Amino acid sequence: MFDVITFGSAAQDIFLRLNKKQVIVGKKFTAGKGVCFDLGSKVDVEEIYFYCGGGGINTSATFAKQGLKTAYCGAIGKDLAGEEIIKDLNNRGVAVDFVKEKGKPTNHSIIFNLSQKDRTIIAYRGASELLAREDIPWDKMGSRWFYLAPLSGLACETSKSIINFAKEKEIKIAFNPGTFQISLPGKILSEILSKIDILILNQEEASFLTKIPFIKEKEIFEKIDKMCPGIAIMTKGAKGVVASDGRYFYSANVLKTKVVDKTGAGDSFGAGFVSGFIKANGDIGYAMQLGIANSASCLQQWGAKNGLLGEGDNWEKVKIKKLKYEKS
Ligand SMILES: Nc1ncnc2c1ncn2[C@@H]1O[C@H](COP(=O)(O)OP(=O)(O)OP(=O)(O)O)[C@@H](O)[C@H]1O
Ligand SMILES: [Mg+2]
Repeated sequence: MFDVITFGSAAQDIFLRLNKKQVIVGKKFTAGKGVCFDLGSKVDVEEIYFYCGGGGINTSATFAKQGLKTAYCGAIGKDLAGEEIIKDLNNRGVAVDFVKEKGKPTNHSIIFNLSQKDRTIIAYRGASELLAREDIPWDKMGSRWFYLAPLSGLACETSKSIINFAKEKEIKIAFNPGTFQISLPGKILSEILSKIDILILNQEEASFLTKIPFIKEKEIFEKIDKMCPGIAIMTKGAKGVVASDGRYFYSANVLKTKVVDKTGAGDSFGAGFVSGFIKANGDIGYAMQLGIANSASCLQQWGAKNGLLGEGDNWEKVKIKKLKYEKS
């Protein structure tokens, strides 16, 4: 019996530090700025780092560091990156019994980092997308919790089977859906959301799900509370975190920290929150504090798994504001 089984992508992340002069301003870019290279040129980079990543792997790393009995369930390719992922999981004490080799290369992400705020990710979505119902050894999936990180492609459909199975077996579910999952047909999505115990979204995802601008927090939460009976959380990058359990509204600022690399912010917050929730028997305030501290610690180092907080580490607790939820 595991404490947590995580689902989501497994990837080889390649981090490159680019020069500011590679950024150009232009109306053609959605963000008003783009990364640019001379055609046919060779571009030198001064820093490069390789780490295994992907939401399923990143979150399993936090759970294992927090002393929880953890397994990862997902797909890799028959390649070097896949071998590295297995080695990394083994080193971290995450069980690899549910890792499946599929017929596409392992997912890869090339992450161009320019400054604290600016980064561009070029992603190859490979084997992780192919995880199918048949790949999961259901009779061995005993766990107290399932954590579902973003998934796309075929595996996005598989989410529904994973969630239905969990509900049937009384396994608690934490869900951090990606845009692909939020874009599932309305009927499937509402069936999924009605079974979630902890729903974690960033501002853009919360807004995309509810079709309400993200500054209208109260309206967003009222709508999410109707779709999902569990705890709903909205992370707001450097601007803090808000959560609701339908009775109280919780909010907190983030810890002020230097940001070396933002990759893994969402995963380290989500897995930190759920670890805190498990360890403190459902204390939302404590869970938020651990999520915030874990993500702040992750952002101080390159990669999505370096700097994660371990059991017994000292960490700073932010102040939590708790207000009675006045529904309109
Ligand atoms: N600049 C920052 N300083 C301190 N903490 C931060 C900062 N940015 C993010 N965090 C922490 O990380 C959490 C998650 O960040 P964010 O809301 O950007 O998630 P996300 O958009 O899902 O990230 P990701 O791109 O990793 O999926 C925040 O709630 C906060 O606790
Ligand atoms: Mg995210």
